[in-house]
Amino acid sequence: MNDTAVAAFLAAPLDERQARRLSDLGLRADLVTDEDRAASDGWIEAVSRGFLGTERSEVQRQAAFDGLRARRRLGVYDDSAPVPGTPVATFASWLAELTVPGPALIDTAAISSVTVAPTHRRRGLARAMMEGELRAAASAGVPVATLTVSESTLYGRYGFAPAAEAAHWRIEAKRAGWIGPVSPGRVDFVPRVDARVLIEPLYDRVRLARPGEITMPAGHWDRFLRTRPDSEKGEELRTVVYTTVAGEVTGVALYSVTESHDDFARSTLEVVYLLALDDESYAGLWRFFLEMDLIGWIEATELSVDEPLLWMIADQRAAQRTVRDHHYVRILDVVAALEARRYSGAGRVVIEIADPLGFAAGRVLLDVDGRGVGSVRPADATTDAPSLRLGIAELSAAYLGGVRLATLAAAGRVTGDGVAAASALFAAPQAPRLSFWY
Ligand SMILES: CC(C)(COP(=O)(O)OP(=O)(O)OC[C@H]1O[C@@H](n2cnc3c(N)ncnc32)[C@H](O)[C@@H]1OP(=O)(O)O)[C@@H](O)C(=O)NCCC(=O)NCCS
Repeated sequence: MNDTAVAAFLAAPLDERQARRLSDLGLRADLVTDEDRAASDGWIEAVSRGFLGTERSEVQRQAAFDGLRARRRLGVYDDSAPVPGTPVATFASWLAELTVPGPALIDTAAISSVTVAPTHRRRGLARAMMEGELRAAASAGVPVATLTVSESTLYGRYGFAPAAEAAHWRIEAKRAGWIGPVSPGRVDFVPRVDARVLIEPLYDRVRLARPGEITMPAGHWDRFLRTRPDSEKGEELRTVVYTTVAGEVTGVALYSVTESHDDFARSTLEVVYLLALDDESYAGLWRFFLEMDLIGWIEATELSVDEPLLWMIADQRAAQRTVRDHHYVRILDVVAALEARRYSGAGRVVIEIADPLGFAAGRVLLDVDGRGVGSVRPADATTDAPSLRLGIAELSAAYLGGVRLATLAAAGRVTGDGVAAASALFAAPQAPRLSFWY
């Protein structure tokens, strides 16, 4: 992902079909530029309101103005409204890198801040924005779009599918019993501002190895570390780092504690974020939490569905795990997407894709060599290979290896004599994960 690609994405013209649809509704779309403070204020107010938030303070408006640069911010305006400068719908997207099985990287249009004012809901504004911005991203050459969602039922209609699940853990700390390795390094408390400096480059190494993760959005670290000027309750956050015997910091964790007034020895510790470069720092930080005095419960969200932690505790039933859909993927360019990731072994399969929005529809041959590198070319009825038929949402769901194509076939969502072959090819060595929301 280079600066030219980022600039091209940000400057991509607004989609004409979108403009026409909005104009028919008496509305107009506009992009909020980085220089326009008044437009930024209206836009951030609309986003907050759309997500049921409070009126933004001056500090929050300034923080949003400073922090949301390099995002393509779309606003839909109703010039007949009493406050025309506050958009009635919002949509943000930016260019990021998504890690795919290999591990390898692909550019994605990361999407967030999708809101429509309750005064203008169910008139097709969300659809107009999504379809228009996906067309703009595809025209700018972006092969994939990704997002996290407030409601699971919103985005399947546009071809998105949950491609990486997230697990929420609630661990009964005293019952769990640490049986994992005892890491040789040390865990130390550091000030939040120091953790802020350490965590950013560390994440950039971790994400490259973990399918499902994307470039951390600008401003997110300050939000997690509560180091933004508008952050609240920063004093509740504690930050620790794991350092190897050789002196390298390979893990950072943020946590807060809610005391139990009934039983002081059963307080709840929330792991706000735990980042570990390797198995040693992972074990070192989790053992630190599990063996902490006065803690009855440990909660952690956005964990992977295959956390090694489960095999580091003596009593697995001490860990209650809830899994849910988390990172949604939408393939826009089938050739670029399928050629970016690596596959498990060699094979050939014809994939026939249906796509209601048209971006990815067609029939292609995926030909994978002995190194797991795939090449994609158009296929026709005479192409000699087993085949499968599926929708773009199903292909997107299986893209990161989070669900097997055979499972989707058993669910009636994929058909063809190539299901077993394709399912084996798409299998990934690691469950994909995304460690945050955006
Ligand atoms: C979700 C939201 C953006 C939808 O906006 P909208 O303009 O009312 O949506 P549209 O009128 O364009 O509807 C588009 C489609 O989505 C469906 N839809 C809209 N909201 C839905 C919801 N909450 N649940 C299920 N389907 C929904 C519509 O029925 C319509 O379906 P169809 O076109 O396939 O017939 C809006 O309700 C909102 O701002 N919600 C609160 C903020 C939020 O959750 N944003 C999403 C963040 S991930």
